[in-house]
Amino acid sequence: MNIVKDAVQKVMKKAVELAPDAWMPDPDPLMHSRDGLIGAPVSRVDGALKVQGQAPYAAEFPLDGMVYAALAYSTVPKGRIATLDTNAAASSPGVVLVMTHMNAPKMQPMPLFMSANKAVGGEDLAVMQDDRIYSNGQPIALVLAETQEQADHAVALIEATYAAEPAVTSMAAAMANGTKQASFQGEPLRNDIGDAEAALAAAPYRVDATYTTPRHNHNAIELHAATLAWEGAHVDTLRIHDASQGVAHMAWSMAQIFGIKEDQVRVTSPFVGGAFGSKSLWRHHVLAAAAARLVQRPVRIMLSREGVYRIVGGRAPTTQRVALGAQADGRFDALIHTGVAALSPHNAMPEPFILGTRCTYAATNIKLDVRTAEMDVLANTFMRAPGESVGTFALESAVDELAAQLEMDPIALRMRNEPKKDPTAGTPFSARHLEDAYRMGAERFGWRDRHAKPRTHVDGEWLVGMGCATATYPYYRMPGGAARITLSNDGSARVEVAAHDMGMGTATVQAQVTAERLGLPLDKVTVAYGDTHFPGLVLAGGSQQTAAIGGAVIAAYQALVVELLKLATGDSPLAGLKPDQVVARDGGLYKRGEPRHAESYVSLLARGGRTALTAEANAAPPLEFLHWSMHSFGAIFCEARVNMVTGEPRISRLLGAFDCGRILNPKTAASQFKGGMIMGMGMALMEATQLDERNGRIMNPSLAEYHVPVHMDVPEIEVLWTDIPDPHAPMGARGIGEIGITGTGAAIANAIYNACGKRVRDLPITLDKLGDY
Ligand code: MOS
Repeated sequence: MNIVKDAVQKVMKKAVELAPDAWMPDPDPLMHSRDGLIGAPVSRVDGALKVQGQAPYAAEFPLDGMVYAALAYSTVPKGRIATLDTNAAASSPGVVLVMTHMNAPKMQPMPLFMSANKAVGGEDLAVMQDDRIYSNGQPIALVLAETQEQADHAVALIEATYAAEPAVTSMAAAMANGTKQASFQGEPLRNDIGDAEAALAAAPYRVDATYTTPRHNHNAIELHAATLAWEGAHVDTLRIHDASQGVAHMAWSMAQIFGIKEDQVRVTSPFVGGAFGSKSLWRHHVLAAAAARLVQRPVRIMLSREGVYRIVGGRAPTTQRVALGAQADGRFDALIHTGVAALSPHNAMPEPFILGTRCTYAATNIKLDVRTAEMDVLANTFMRAPGESVGTFALESAVDELAAQLEMDPIALRMRNEPKKDPTAGTPFSARHLEDAYRMGAERFGWRDRHAKPRTHVDGEWLVGMGCATATYPYYRMPGGAARITLSNDGSARVEVAAHDMGMGTATVQAQVTAERLGLPLDKVTVAYGDTHFPGLVLAGGSQQTAAIGGAVIAAYQALVVELLKLATGDSPLAGLKPDQVVARDGGLYKRGEPRHAESYVSLLARGGRTALTAEANAAPPLEFLHWSMHSFGAIFCEARVNMVTGEPRISRLLGAFDCGRILNPKTAASQFKGGMIMGMGMALMEATQLDERNGRIMNPSLAEYHVPVHMDVPEIEVLWTDIPDPHAPMGARGIGEIGITGTGAAIANAIYNACGKRVRDLPITLDKLGDY
């Protein structure tokens, strides 16, 4: 079945690539709108709510009769539970339930992400259905109690013994067992153009190096949580207040697990305190819903920080080879990017580190390949630019190494290899202005002051250096976008879409876009989101949400105009006009080219005797990113300092110049870019999950031991953008959420090399790797 499906999809993909441009979705006229709400630095519409503590997060819904959950975690990586003593926990004060595999209700396995269009499980295992253990930290028991403290105390009284089995708990052991071809979204992560190995061997200039990146864990500020209850006359409707990047996905997936219908699960997620790929479906959701069913009471589960490390997947470790063969003028004859990422047996998400390499450089011969090595650990999952973040570290470090060897400016070397079309897909770029980004970034950063030779710029006991790197992230618009617009006779509009605002400003930016599209003032537009009662399958992931909502609102707006024109009867100045003859402005529609032929929405509704008018529609199929190569780009610049006494690295300046199409709101966009770049700093200098390789236990499951940048570590960050609309994206805007983390790791590594002459190819770059001064 899958082979047939894959073959059909390949034919479809080819057909879309070759189709005439005119078959693609129409360009969005809004991309050219200047001096309006698009591009205005509007402050967050929910800012006041948040600073007043009035924005409720998943663990802040008090339900009547609610009980609190705590989890016990396995301490072996693989095997069976031999004994499980829950007596002391069960008789501990306030305890309402101790649930283990012996009394958990029957449930289906979690539907694994990408196995179906609404599947959102981080792994495909059944939850607490038998005594088997698949990773160290897997929940073995859940306690419900009247207070959180009682639950936490009781869970500590549970005693387990195990019949442990041999497990693969180190990357080295996993690789020694052999590797497999990795696939992503149904296609092998592999490209072969020409004979890259032969071209490399023949090239007069060569870099051939191995770069390694460690395991990373998710650390959103808001801990993973859910407050849920079984409701309805038959107590068969599951109501979940969740912290989610995909409410519709979540409802469908939970329905599969519990054997109920999708519409028997209602998920809302009005506010999310960061997600970055982690707020999908994990075991805590399933366990809390199962326990709530057993005790027939609402349950609140909020993972501890340790709990997030134990059961929410992170980024897998990688070992990557990048080899570049070049002519003296810098042109690439060979580009090789291959390597291995760890993968658990119950997961299908290999860290796809070659994705960015596929579109970045022209090279005569290209070889790209990701392989996986199996480890008995928690599933790998999506984590901020999965693939590109660690992939650009390797690729862009290697480019810098080649520039040093060629004694060429690293920017000039990159520009020498700018491709005219997508080097692996062969499709034309929709819009690529990386040169502009480098030009404006270099100018603003003062790149001309860089010392070409390492260890020549000294400031007291600090060696100072500059580095740069290319950032890249694809444009996606996933299928399933839909929206509903309701116009009211007070002249206001409400958009409803099952999308998400995880702090990035969705509600704000989409209110701006919709107001502009409908010709209404901003304060007349409300964007309602984060609720499965709203239309659309809109994942807040892959940096695609802005385009997905935009495409859906375009369709809903077009449907709304059709309905409005039906009301334009009698002496209406719009009577008899077709949808493409009218334009929205000043709270109504006017005849294109004849602004005096206008009628307000309020008047049209009154004419039809309506208090409100609703239109709902599905977005046009997202064919554009198969037809064109659609990617965002950026140029990241870093000034680093390495202390000559201690080897300590410090970042003194960071700048990103981005080419992401139209920037819809410079205020929220700057936050997104800076946040991504700070995560890139963490990846470059601090973040690493420490695995005890004897037993697969994460040893640093807390922010005290797993370091992320704090304010004292972060310099002033500058962000610039080209603001050139992408002609084929809604609003001309490509996503901006994830690109900031890409390129940043390499820009930092390259700046550190330029400062002290030490090339560190193993993240994170800590002072012990820079020592001997
Ligand atoms: Mo994306 S991996 O959901 O930040």
